[in-house]
Amino acid sequence: MQHLPTGTPLRTQAFSPDLSPLVLAIPENPLRALFPYAARPGMLNLASGHPSPDAYDTEGLTEASRRAAADAAAWSYGPSAGDPQLIAALEALTPTRPRGHRLIVTSGAQQAVDLALRSLARPGSTVLLPEPIYPAILSICAAAGLRVEAYRLKADDPELADLSRALGRGEVAALYAQPTFSNPGGETWGLAVRKRVLELCAAHRVPVIEDDPYRALCHAEAPPAALVELSAQVQGSIVIWAGSLSKTLAPGLRLGWAAAPPTVTGPMTELRQAGDLQPNSLAQRVALRYLELDRLDRHLTRVRGLYAARHDRLAAVLGAAGFSFEPAAGGMFLFPALPEDTAIEGLFERVLKQNVLYAPGPSFALNRDARFGNRLRLCFAGLDAEALATAAARLVAALNE
Ligand SMILES: Cc1ncc(COP(=O)(O)O)c(C=O)c1O
Repeated sequence: MQHLPTGTPLRTQAFSPDLSPLVLAIPENPLRALFPYAARPGMLNLASGHPSPDAYDTEGLTEASRRAAADAAAWSYGPSAGDPQLIAALEALTPTRPRGHRLIVTSGAQQAVDLALRSLARPGSTVLLPEPIYPAILSICAAAGLRVEAYRLKADDPELADLSRALGRGEVAALYAQPTFSNPGGETWGLAVRKRVLELCAAHRVPVIEDDPYRALCHAEAPPAALVELSAQVQGSIVIWAGSLSKTLAPGLRLGWAAAPPTVTGPMTELRQAGDLQPNSLAQRVALRYLELDRLDRHLTRVRGLYAARHDRLAAVLGAAGFSFEPAAGGMFLFPALPEDTAIEGLFERVLKQNVLYAPGPSFALNRDARFGNRLRLCFAGLDAEALATAAARLVAALNE
Protein backbone atom coordinates (compact mmCIF):
# COMPACT_ATOMS: atom_id res chain seq x y z
CA MET A 1 0.00 0.00 0.00
CA GLN A 2 1.35 3.41 -1.00
CA HIS A 3 1.48 6.12 1.57
CA LEU A 4 0.84 9.71 0.54
CA PRO A 5 3.83 11.94 1.13
CA THR A 6 3.10 14.10 4.13
CA GLY A 7 1.74 17.49 3.20
CA THR A 8 0.01 16.25 -0.04
CA PRO A 9 -3.39 17.98 -0.10
CA LEU A 10 -6.29 15.47 -0.17
CA ARG A 11 -8.93 16.25 -2.78
CA THR A 12 -12.19 15.65 -0.97
CA GLN A 13 -15.65 16.03 -2.40
CA ALA A 14 -18.99 15.36 -0.76
CA PHE A 15 -20.52 12.14 -2.01
CA SER A 16 -23.49 9.95 -1.17
CA PRO A 17 -22.48 6.46 -0.18
CA ASP A 18 -23.96 3.63 -2.24
CA LEU A 19 -26.57 1.89 -0.16
CA SER A 20 -27.10 -1.84 -0.07
CA PRO A 21 -29.99 -2.93 -2.29
CA LEU A 22 -31.22 -5.00 0.65
CA VAL A 23 -31.73 -1.86 2.73
CA LEU A 24 -33.35 -0.04 -0.14
CA ALA A 25 -35.77 -2.96 -0.60
CA ILE A 26 -37.18 -2.74 2.94
CA PRO A 27 -40.76 -1.53 2.57
CA GLU A 28 -42.02 1.17 4.89
CA ASN A 29 -43.49 -0.43 8.01
CA PRO A 30 -47.02 0.99 7.84
CA LEU A 31 -47.66 0.43 11.54
CA ARG A 32 -44.54 2.31 12.64
CA ALA A 33 -45.51 5.09 10.20
CA LEU A 34 -48.59 5.66 12.40
CA PHE A 35 -46.50 6.52 15.48
CA PRO A 36 -46.55 10.32 14.87
CA TYR A 37 -50.37 10.26 14.74
CA ALA A 38 -50.49 8.12 17.89
CA ALA A 39 -48.38 10.74 19.70
CA ARG A 40 -50.90 13.56 19.07
CA PRO A 41 -52.46 14.79 22.32
CA GLY A 42 -55.80 13.16 23.04
CA MET A 43 -55.49 10.54 20.28
CA LEU A 44 -57.44 7.35 20.98
CA ASN A 45 -55.19 4.71 19.48
CA LEU A 46 -56.99 1.64 18.13
CA ALA A 47 -54.09 0.99 15.75
CA SER A 48 -51.18 -0.22 17.87
CA GLY A 49 -50.88 -3.68 19.39
CA HIS A 50 -49.71 -2.97 22.90
CA PRO A 51 -51.09 -3.32 26.43
CA SER A 52 -53.13 -0.40 27.79
CA PRO A 53 -51.48 1.55 30.64
CA ASP A 54 -53.86 -0.09 33.15
CA ALA A 55 -52.83 -3.57 31.95
CA TYR A 56 -49.25 -3.39 33.19
CA ASP A 57 -48.38 -4.91 36.54
CA THR A 58 -46.68 -1.66 37.51
CA GLU A 59 -46.19 -2.65 41.13
CA GLY A 60 -44.55 -5.93 40.18
CA LEU A 61 -42.40 -4.37 37.46
CA THR A 62 -41.26 -1.64 39.84
CA GLU A 63 -40.25 -4.14 42.50
CA ALA A 64 -38.52 -6.35 39.91
CA SER A 65 -36.62 -3.33 38.53
CA ARG A 66 -35.49 -2.35 42.01
CA ARG A 67 -34.19 -5.84 42.73
CA ALA A 68 -32.58 -6.12 39.28
CA ALA A 69 -30.75 -2.81 39.60
CA ALA A 70 -29.14 -3.95 42.86
CA ASP A 71 -27.53 -6.89 41.08
CA ALA A 72 -24.12 -6.36 39.45
CA ALA A 73 -24.99 -8.90 36.72
CA ALA A 74 -27.61 -6.44 35.44
CA TRP A 75 -24.86 -4.02 34.41
CA SER A 76 -22.39 -6.38 32.80
CA TYR A 77 -21.98 -8.44 29.62
CA GLY A 78 -23.58 -11.87 29.44
CA PRO A 79 -23.90 -14.87 27.11
CA SER A 80 -25.16 -14.28 23.54
CA ALA A 81 -27.87 -16.92 23.97
CA GLY A 82 -29.21 -15.12 27.04
CA ASP A 83 -28.96 -15.31 30.82
CA PRO A 84 -29.08 -19.02 31.79
CA GLN A 85 -31.23 -18.20 34.84
CA LEU A 86 -33.77 -16.39 32.72
CA ILE A 87 -33.74 -19.24 30.20
CA ALA A 88 -34.51 -21.66 33.04
CA ALA A 89 -37.42 -19.44 34.16
CA LEU A 90 -38.78 -19.17 30.59
CA GLU A 91 -39.03 -22.97 30.37
CA ALA A 92 -42.27 -22.79 32.32
CA LEU A 93 -43.77 -20.33 29.80
CA THR A 94 -42.82 -22.36 26.73
CA PRO A 95 -45.17 -24.91 25.15
CA THR A 96 -44.18 -28.54 25.50
CA ARG A 97 -41.58 -29.15 22.83
CA PRO A 98 -39.66 -32.04 21.33
CA ARG A 99 -36.82 -33.38 23.43
CA GLY A 100 -33.57 -31.61 22.61
CA HIS A 101 -35.07 -28.25 21.63
CA ARG A 102 -33.08 -25.42 23.26
CA LEU A 103 -34.18 -21.95 24.30
CA ILE A 104 -32.41 -18.70 23.46
CA VAL A 105 -33.39 -15.20 24.58
CA THR A 106 -34.03 -12.66 21.80
CA SER A 107 -35.01 -9.03 21.42
CA GLY A 108 -38.73 -9.78 21.15
CA ALA A 109 -40.43 -12.31 18.91
CA GLN A 110 -39.41 -10.02 16.06
CA GLN A 111 -35.74 -10.88 16.45
CA ALA A 112 -36.51 -14.56 17.02
CA VAL A 113 -38.28 -14.69 13.63
CA ASP A 114 -35.52 -12.63 12.01
CA LEU A 115 -32.72 -14.87 13.30
CA ALA A 116 -34.64 -18.01 12.37
CA LEU A 117 -35.36 -16.83 8.84
CA ARG A 118 -31.85 -15.63 8.20
CA SER A 119 -30.40 -18.87 9.59
CA LEU A 120 -32.63 -21.04 7.43
CA ALA A 121 -33.18 -19.15 4.19
CA ARG A 122 -30.46 -18.18 1.75
CA PRO A 123 -30.89 -14.88 -0.17
CA GLY A 124 -33.13 -15.39 -3.20
CA SER A 125 -35.04 -18.31 -1.70
CA THR A 126 -38.77 -18.19 -0.98
CA VAL A 127 -40.62 -17.94 2.31
CA LEU A 128 -44.31 -18.78 2.51
CA LEU A 129 -46.34 -16.26 4.49
CA PRO A 130 -50.01 -16.14 5.45
CA GLU A 131 -52.05 -13.24 4.11
CA PRO A 132 -53.12 -10.92 5.72
CA ILE A 133 -49.65 -10.64 7.29
CA TYR A 134 -48.15 -8.74 10.22
CA PRO A 135 -46.11 -6.29 8.09
CA ALA A 136 -42.86 -6.31 10.10
CA ILE A 137 -42.32 -9.84 8.76
CA LEU A 138 -42.09 -8.33 5.26
CA SER A 139 -39.32 -6.03 6.52
CA ILE A 140 -37.35 -9.06 7.78
CA CYS A 141 -37.75 -10.85 4.46
CA ALA A 142 -36.72 -7.81 2.40
CA ALA A 143 -33.64 -7.16 4.54
CA ALA A 144 -32.62 -10.82 4.15
CA GLY A 145 -33.13 -10.79 0.36
CA LEU A 146 -35.97 -13.33 0.50
CA ARG A 147 -38.87 -13.72 -1.90
CA VAL A 148 -42.27 -13.96 -0.28
CA GLU A 149 -45.27 -15.93 -1.44
CA ALA A 150 -48.71 -16.01 0.17
CA TYR A 151 -50.46 -19.15 1.30
CA ARG A 152 -54.09 -19.36 2.30
CA LEU A 153 -55.85 -22.00 4.34
CA LYS A 154 -59.45 -22.37 3.23
CA ALA A 155 -62.21 -24.12 5.11
CA ASP A 156 -63.32 -25.87 1.88
CA ASP A 157 -59.82 -27.31 1.32
CA PRO A 158 -59.21 -29.57 4.35
CA GLU A 159 -56.36 -31.36 2.57
CA LEU A 160 -54.67 -27.95 2.08
CA ALA A 161 -54.00 -28.70 -1.59
CA ASP A 162 -53.12 -25.04 -2.27
CA LEU A 163 -50.44 -25.07 0.41
CA SER A 164 -49.15 -28.42 -0.83
CA ARG A 165 -48.72 -26.98 -4.33
CA ALA A 166 -46.91 -23.90 -2.97
CA LEU A 167 -44.57 -26.11 -0.93
CA GLY A 168 -43.86 -28.24 -3.98
CA ARG A 169 -42.73 -25.39 -6.20
CA GLY A 170 -39.16 -25.71 -4.88
CA GLU A 171 -36.76 -23.20 -3.33
CA VAL A 172 -39.12 -22.82 -0.33
CA ALA A 173 -36.77 -22.27 2.58
CA ALA A 174 -39.34 -21.87 5.37
CA LEU A 175 -43.01 -21.46 6.16
CA TYR A 176 -43.91 -18.69 8.60
CA ALA A 177 -47.06 -19.34 10.61
CA GLN A 178 -48.99 -17.45 13.23
CA PRO A 179 -51.62 -20.04 14.09
CA THR A 180 -52.87 -18.64 17.42
CA PHE A 181 -54.86 -15.38 17.79
CA SER A 182 -53.31 -13.99 14.62
CA ASN A 183 -52.31 -10.44 13.87
CA PRO A 184 -54.29 -8.91 12.21
CA GLY A 185 -57.06 -11.49 11.66
CA GLY A 186 -57.60 -12.69 15.24
CA GLU A 187 -57.80 -16.24 13.81
CA THR A 188 -56.77 -19.52 15.38
CA TRP A 189 -56.09 -22.72 13.43
CA GLY A 190 -57.85 -25.87 14.60
CA LEU A 191 -55.96 -29.00 15.56
CA ALA A 192 -56.54 -30.83 12.27
CA VAL A 193 -55.18 -27.91 10.23
CA ARG A 194 -52.15 -27.67 12.50
CA LYS A 195 -51.33 -31.35 12.01
CA ARG A 196 -51.90 -31.19 8.25
CA VAL A 197 -49.60 -28.16 7.87
CA LEU A 198 -46.87 -30.01 9.78
CA GLU A 199 -47.34 -33.16 7.68
CA LEU A 200 -47.09 -31.21 4.43
CA CYS A 201 -44.06 -29.24 5.57
CA ALA A 202 -42.35 -32.43 6.76
CA ALA A 203 -43.07 -34.12 3.42
CA HIS A 204 -41.47 -31.21 1.58
CA ARG A 205 -38.65 -30.86 4.14
CA VAL A 206 -39.60 -27.27 4.88
CA PRO A 207 -39.05 -25.97 8.43
CA VAL A 208 -41.87 -24.03 10.11
CA ILE A 209 -41.40 -20.81 12.07
CA GLU A 210 -44.23 -20.52 14.60
CA ASP A 211 -44.64 -16.91 15.75
CA ASP A 212 -46.65 -17.21 18.97
CA PRO A 213 -46.63 -13.96 21.01
CA TYR A 214 -50.37 -14.00 21.86
CA ARG A 215 -50.81 -17.59 23.18
CA ALA A 216 -51.19 -16.53 26.83
CA LEU A 217 -53.90 -13.95 26.01
CA CYS A 218 -56.79 -16.40 25.57
CA HIS A 219 -60.29 -15.28 26.57
CA ALA A 220 -62.17 -18.37 27.76
CA GLU A 221 -60.50 -21.53 26.53
CA ALA A 222 -56.84 -22.33 26.12
CA PRO A 223 -55.86 -22.47 22.42
CA PRO A 224 -55.05 -25.75 20.64
CA ALA A 225 -51.58 -27.22 21.13
CA ALA A 226 -48.76 -25.22 19.59
CA LEU A 227 -47.20 -26.47 16.35
CA VAL A 228 -43.95 -27.00 18.23
CA GLU A 229 -45.71 -29.36 20.63
CA LEU A 230 -47.47 -31.23 17.82
CA SER A 231 -44.23 -31.55 15.87
CA ALA A 232 -43.17 -34.32 18.26
CA GLN A 233 -46.02 -36.42 16.76
CA VAL A 234 -45.28 -35.63 13.11
CA GLN A 235 -42.17 -37.40 11.96
CA GLY A 236 -39.70 -35.23 10.08
CA SER A 237 -41.31 -31.92 11.02
CA ILE A 238 -39.13 -29.10 12.35
CA VAL A 239 -40.63 -26.12 14.21
CA ILE A 240 -38.80 -23.06 15.44
CA TRP A 241 -41.11 -21.49 18.03
CA ALA A 242 -40.99 -17.75 18.89
CA GLY A 243 -42.49 -16.31 22.08
CA SER A 244 -42.52 -12.87 23.65
CA LEU A 245 -42.89 -11.00 26.93
CA SER A 246 -44.15 -7.96 24.98
CA LYS A 247 -47.85 -8.71 25.04
CA THR A 248 -47.99 -10.19 28.53
CA LEU A 249 -45.50 -8.12 30.51
CA ALA A 250 -44.02 -5.07 28.74
CA PRO A 251 -43.02 -4.51 25.09
CA GLY A 252 -40.40 -1.95 26.16
CA LEU A 253 -38.32 -4.70 27.77
CA ARG A 254 -37.73 -6.00 24.21
CA LEU A 255 -37.56 -9.58 25.37
CA GLY A 256 -38.70 -12.69 23.60
CA TRP A 257 -37.31 -16.15 23.14
CA ALA A 258 -37.04 -18.97 20.64
CA ALA A 259 -37.25 -22.73 21.08
CA ALA A 260 -35.60 -24.81 18.35
CA PRO A 261 -33.30 -27.75 17.76
CA PRO A 262 -29.65 -26.90 18.60
CA THR A 263 -28.80 -27.20 14.90
CA VAL A 264 -30.83 -23.99 14.49
CA THR A 265 -30.36 -22.20 17.84
CA GLY A 266 -26.57 -22.45 17.35
CA PRO A 267 -26.56 -20.47 14.07
CA MET A 268 -29.23 -18.12 15.46
CA THR A 269 -26.95 -17.33 18.41
CA GLU A 270 -23.99 -16.76 16.07
CA LEU A 271 -26.08 -14.34 13.99
CA ARG A 272 -27.20 -12.59 17.12
CA GLN A 273 -23.70 -12.05 18.43
CA ALA A 274 -22.68 -10.79 15.00
CA GLY A 275 -25.38 -8.13 15.25
CA ASP A 276 -25.46 -6.89 18.85
CA LEU A 277 -23.54 -9.45 20.93
CA GLN A 278 -26.29 -10.37 23.43
CA PRO A 279 -29.66 -9.52 24.97
CA ASN A 280 -29.80 -6.47 27.25
CA SER A 281 -28.58 -7.60 30.69
CA LEU A 282 -30.70 -5.17 32.72
CA ALA A 283 -33.91 -6.08 30.90
CA GLN A 284 -33.18 -9.77 31.40
CA ARG A 285 -32.62 -9.29 35.12
CA VAL A 286 -35.87 -7.31 35.42
CA ALA A 287 -37.75 -10.13 33.68
CA LEU A 288 -36.06 -12.77 35.83
CA ARG A 289 -36.78 -10.95 39.09
CA TYR A 290 -40.37 -10.36 37.94
CA LEU A 291 -40.89 -14.07 37.23
CA GLU A 292 -39.40 -14.89 40.66
CA LEU A 293 -42.03 -12.67 42.33
CA ASP A 294 -44.63 -15.26 41.32
CA ARG A 295 -47.13 -12.67 40.17
CA LEU A 296 -47.41 -13.63 36.49
CA ASP A 297 -50.36 -16.03 36.79
CA ARG A 298 -52.42 -13.52 38.76
CA HIS A 299 -51.46 -10.74 36.36
CA LEU A 300 -52.40 -12.83 33.32
CA THR A 301 -55.74 -13.79 34.81
CA ARG A 302 -56.53 -10.10 35.30
CA VAL A 303 -55.36 -9.11 31.81
CA ARG A 304 -57.29 -11.94 30.11
CA GLY A 305 -60.45 -10.75 31.84
CA LEU A 306 -59.85 -7.12 30.80
CA TYR A 307 -59.18 -8.00 27.17
CA ALA A 308 -62.08 -10.46 26.87
CA ALA A 309 -64.50 -7.79 28.15
CA ARG A 310 -63.04 -5.16 25.80
CA HIS A 311 -63.21 -7.55 22.85
CA ASP A 312 -66.89 -8.18 23.55
CA ARG A 313 -67.62 -4.49 23.93
CA LEU A 314 -65.92 -3.54 20.66
CA ALA A 315 -67.49 -6.51 18.86
CA ALA A 316 -70.95 -5.43 20.05
CA VAL A 317 -70.49 -1.88 18.70
CA LEU A 318 -69.09 -3.10 15.39
CA GLY A 319 -71.81 -5.73 14.98
CA ALA A 320 -74.57 -3.19 15.60
CA ALA A 321 -73.00 -0.83 13.03
CA GLY A 322 -72.98 -3.49 10.30
CA PHE A 323 -69.29 -4.47 10.24
CA SER A 324 -68.65 -8.11 9.40
CA PHE A 325 -65.96 -10.10 11.18
CA GLU A 326 -65.13 -13.28 13.02
CA PRO A 327 -64.84 -12.73 16.77
CA ALA A 328 -61.41 -13.51 18.26
CA ALA A 329 -60.90 -16.04 21.05
CA GLY A 330 -57.82 -14.21 22.30
CA GLY A 331 -54.96 -11.94 21.32
CA MET A 332 -55.45 -8.24 20.71
CA PHE A 333 -57.07 -7.72 17.31
CA LEU A 334 -60.18 -7.70 15.18
CA PHE A 335 -59.94 -7.24 11.42
CA PRO A 336 -63.50 -6.29 10.48
CA ALA A 337 -64.82 -5.49 7.01
CA LEU A 338 -66.63 -2.14 6.80
CA PRO A 339 -70.39 -2.01 6.32
CA GLU A 340 -71.26 -2.28 2.60
CA ASP A 341 -72.30 1.32 2.06
CA THR A 342 -69.26 2.96 3.72
CA ALA A 343 -67.47 5.70 1.79
CA ILE A 344 -63.97 4.26 2.12
CA GLU A 345 -62.26 7.18 0.36
CA GLY A 346 -61.00 9.59 3.03
CA LEU A 347 -62.18 7.41 5.90
CA PHE A 348 -58.79 7.35 7.64
CA GLU A 349 -58.69 11.18 7.68
CA ARG A 350 -62.34 11.46 8.82
CA VAL A 351 -61.66 9.13 11.73
CA LEU A 352 -58.38 10.88 12.52
CA LYS A 353 -60.27 14.18 12.76
CA GLN A 354 -62.23 12.56 15.59
CA ASN A 355 -58.89 11.85 17.31
CA VAL A 356 -59.16 8.13 16.65
CA LEU A 357 -56.46 6.08 14.93
CA TYR A 358 -56.87 2.70 13.22
CA ALA A 359 -54.57 0.59 11.03
CA PRO A 360 -55.84 0.49 7.42
CA GLY A 361 -56.39 -2.99 5.94
CA PRO A 362 -54.00 -2.70 2.95
CA SER A 363 -51.09 -2.45 5.44
CA PHE A 364 -51.52 -6.21 5.88
CA ALA A 365 -51.39 -7.21 2.20
CA LEU A 366 -48.23 -8.88 0.93
CA ASN A 367 -47.89 -6.41 -1.94
CA ARG A 368 -49.48 -3.42 -0.20
CA ASP A 369 -51.99 -3.38 -3.06
CA ALA A 370 -55.70 -2.72 -2.76
CA ARG A 371 -56.34 -6.01 -0.97
CA PHE A 372 -58.15 -5.60 2.35
CA GLY A 373 -59.12 -2.05 1.31
CA ASN A 374 -62.43 -2.44 3.10
CA ARG A 375 -60.91 -3.71 6.34
CA LEU A 376 -59.46 -2.08 9.44
CA ARG A 377 -57.27 -3.58 12.11
CA LEU A 378 -58.56 -2.60 15.50
CA CYS A 379 -56.71 -3.39 18.73
CA PHE A 380 -59.11 -3.92 21.62
CA ALA A 381 -56.32 -4.18 24.22
CA GLY A 382 -54.59 -0.81 24.07
CA LEU A 383 -57.28 1.46 25.58
CA ASP A 384 -59.13 1.19 28.86
CA ALA A 385 -62.81 0.22 28.65
CA GLU A 386 -64.15 3.76 28.68
CA ALA A 387 -61.70 5.10 26.07
CA LEU A 388 -62.37 2.05 23.90
CA ALA A 389 -66.12 2.71 23.98
CA THR A 390 -65.57 6.38 23.06
CA ALA A 391 -63.19 5.45 20.23
CA ALA A 392 -65.59 2.85 18.83
CA ALA A 393 -68.52 5.29 18.94
CA ARG A 394 -66.50 7.98 17.15
CA LEU A 395 -65.33 5.49 14.53
CA VAL A 396 -68.90 4.46 13.77
CA ALA A 397 -70.05 8.10 13.67
CA ALA A 398 -67.29 8.96 11.16
CA LEU A 399 -68.17 6.14 8.76
CA ASN A 400 -70.41 8.13 6.46
CA GLU A 401 -69.92 11.67 7.61
C1 LIG B 1 -47.31 -11.64 15.00
C2 LIG B 1 -46.29 -10.81 15.67
N1 LIG B 1 -45.02 -11.20 15.67
C3 LIG B 1 -44.06 -10.50 16.27
C4 LIG B 1 -44.36 -9.31 16.90
C5 LIG B 1 -43.23 -8.54 17.54
O1 LIG B 1 -43.33 -8.64 18.90
P1 LIG B 1 -42.11 -8.38 19.89
O2 LIG B 1 -42.41 -7.14 20.61
O3 LIG B 1 -42.09 -9.60 20.76
O4 LIG B 1 -40.87 -8.29 19.07
C6 LIG B 1 -45.66 -8.83 16.93
C7 LIG B 1 -45.99 -7.54 17.55
O5 LIG B 1 -47.00 -6.93 17.32
C8 LIG B 1 -46.66 -9.61 16.30
O6 LIG B 1 -47.94 -9.23 16.29
